[in-house]
Formats: sequence, structure tokens, C-alpha cells
Amino acid sequence: MKERILTGIKPTGYAHIGNYFGAIKPAIELSKEEKFDCFYFIADYHALTTLKTREEMKEYTYNIACTWLACGLDPEKVVFYKQSDIPEVFELNWILSNVTAKGLMNRAHAYKACVEKNETAGEDRDAGVNMGLYNYPILMAADILLFDANYVPVGLDQKQHIEIARDIANNFNNKYGQTLVEPDGYIQEDFCTLVGLDGRKMSKSYGNTIQLFTSEDVLRKTINRVVTDCRLPGEPKDLDCTVYKLYKLFASAEQTEQFGKKLLEGLGWGDAKKELFEVVNKFIKPMREKYFYFMEHKDEVDKILASGAEKARYVARKTLSKVRKRIGV
Ligand code: ADP
Ligand code: TRP
Repeated sequence: MKERILTGIKPTGYAHIGNYFGAIKPAIELSKEEKFDCFYFIADYHALTTLKTREEMKEYTYNIACTWLACGLDPEKVVFYKQSDIPEVFELNWILSNVTAKGLMNRAHAYKACVEKNETAGEDRDAGVNMGLYNYPILMAADILLFDANYVPVGLDQKQHIEIARDIANNFNNKYGQTLVEPDGYIQEDFCTLVGLDGRKMSKSYGNTIQLFTSEDVLRKTINRVVTDCRLPGEPKDLDCTVYKLYKLFASAEQTEQFGKKLLEGLGWGDAKKELFEVVNKFIKPMREKYFYFMEHKDEVDKILASGAEKARYVARKTLSKVRKRIGV
């Protein structure tokens, strides 16, 4: 039997090049290997903990869906769906809540970070925390355990959530007999975190991202905002700079070597950014065309997701029916 890979991305903002290199590209590469059976989904109910409006939910959900498709996800090979289309997830979520200690949720990083922030500010420790945030890890465990996933590719920040999912599966199995597969993370520990415009980790929460799919004009303007030092044209540049780090991701080894030489010889930041724009734009262009095609043909995207949901629910029903029998309902 093939091993199952499952992962989800939350539609909480426009996909950026950090998401592409850190999550989307490696997942698509895995889906091309015959030995794996892949389930990739849009974690829209997880996004409810941060999104404020229905418009944002719609916009970002299509953005993430079209991004996956534009980046090469093949819906014939990958079961591709929206979490909210799988009601079985939410039934399992409740069942799993009953084999999850409250203390385990108290120790979850995202919740703990809120509590610490509140305590520092002298507020009530649970100020601004709703049950969606608190139960988030259980819902994530349901996403994973419902599909008997063996491996879950995620960034390092999600490692604890995978451990929690394992714990929950283990608790269920101990109580009711071996039923749920205990998943492993698939974490590229040595993966270098992509830097954003300001040199910190590229992240929606820092507002320092390079959005994957925008017009060429917006892309150029964004790249012009990459923070540099104040060295003048003619002065040698430090290759530890953000411009060079980003360039490397998009260019061949030969191009990168040439670019590095020019920076050391004093290429001005303005010209360096022009060259950076050229390589990024060339890389993104064919995918961008597909992205805008799908954004203009949302009915096709809806069909792909509906067909994915049907395939996913077939598997989900089987797991849930086993679980229900074990419980005695
Ligand atoms: P953000 O930090 O922008 O909110 P998410 O948390 O939604 O991004 O990340 C979705 C996926 O993209 C995760 O698997 C995460 O590991 C990956 N990712 C996000 N930012 C980066 C980055 N700067 N470098 C590498 N991978 C990233
Ligand atoms: N919590 C994940 C994130 O923030 C998204 C997610 C939800 C997920 N359910 C999942 C990832 C199941 C992997 C498997 O990135």
C-alpha cells in the first residue's frame, strides 16, 4: 500500500514566495513520486481564527486554491479539497476532544503565546482568546487522523501540532483499541527560512512578503522595497544581503556566481534590484499566467475542489465509521 502524505494551508492572506519555496513546491515534488498518495487541502475553518470578513475568506481561499493549481498540483494525482467540504472532520473533532487533556491544549505554543502576551500587558490571561484558537490543535489532529496520514509536510513552527496529533491518536488507540494511524511530521530541519523584504523571516504577519502572483508592475515595486545598506554604487556589497539571498533562489548557479561577482565589484543597489526583478519575474511568469487563468475561471476551480471533496469524503467516511463502531455509537 502507498504511504499517505497530507498537508493543509490556511487561507489567511495572499500566498508569497516563502510559502512557495517552504511548502508548495516541496509538496508538489512529493506528489510526483509514485510511492505516495497525496491529500492536500485548504484549511479554511482554521483560518476562521484570524479572518475578519467573509470577503477575505472568499478572496484568500481562491488565492490559495489557484496558487496550488498554478504551481503544478495535478488534481488527477492529488486529492485536493477544502476542509469545510468535509463534515466528517468536524464530527471527528468532537470525538477527539474527549480523548484530549485540557492541559495538552494549555501547552500549545499559539495559545501560550497569547497568555504570555496578556500577562505581560497586565490583562486577564485569556483576554481575546476564543475557543477556536484554543481548540485549533484538535481540529488539526482531526484533519490528519481522518485520512490515516503517515507523513505531514509542514514548517518547523507546526512541529508541535503534529506531536499533539500523535498524542491524541495514541490516546484514542489506548482507550478504544488500535484504530488511528499515528502520523509523523515531514519537516525539512535544515531548510533555510526565506527572508522577507526587511531581512526577517518572510511572513504575512510581518508585512514583508513578496506576493507570488501580482502584476509585473506590483512585483517590480515590491522588489524595489527590499531593504539594503547605504553602500554607494562602486562600493563592494556584502553577499549576506537580502537581494543576493533572494536572487539565489530564482537563478541558475552560473547566474548567481556572476551576480555575486558584480555585487562585489560595486554594482549599485538600484541595478541589483533590476536584475533581481528580471530573474524573479522570468521564474514566476508561466505560473502567473496559469494563476490568472484559474482566477478568471473560478467555476473550474470549484469543480476541481468538489471532485476532490468527493474523493476525500469516501476515505473520511470509512475512517469515521470505524471510529464510531469503536466508541459504540
Ligand atoms: P505566514 O508566516 O506568512 O503566515 P503560513 O504560516 O501561512 O505563512 O505558512 C504556510 C506554509 O508556508 C507553512 O508550511 C510554512 O512553513 C511555509 N512558510 C511560510 N513562510 C515561510 C518562509 N519565510 N520560509 C519558508 N517557508 C515558509
Ligand atoms: N496549522 C497549519 C498552519 O498554520 C495549517 C493546517 C491545518 C495543517 N490543518 C493541517 C497543516 C493539517 C498540516 C496538516 O500552517
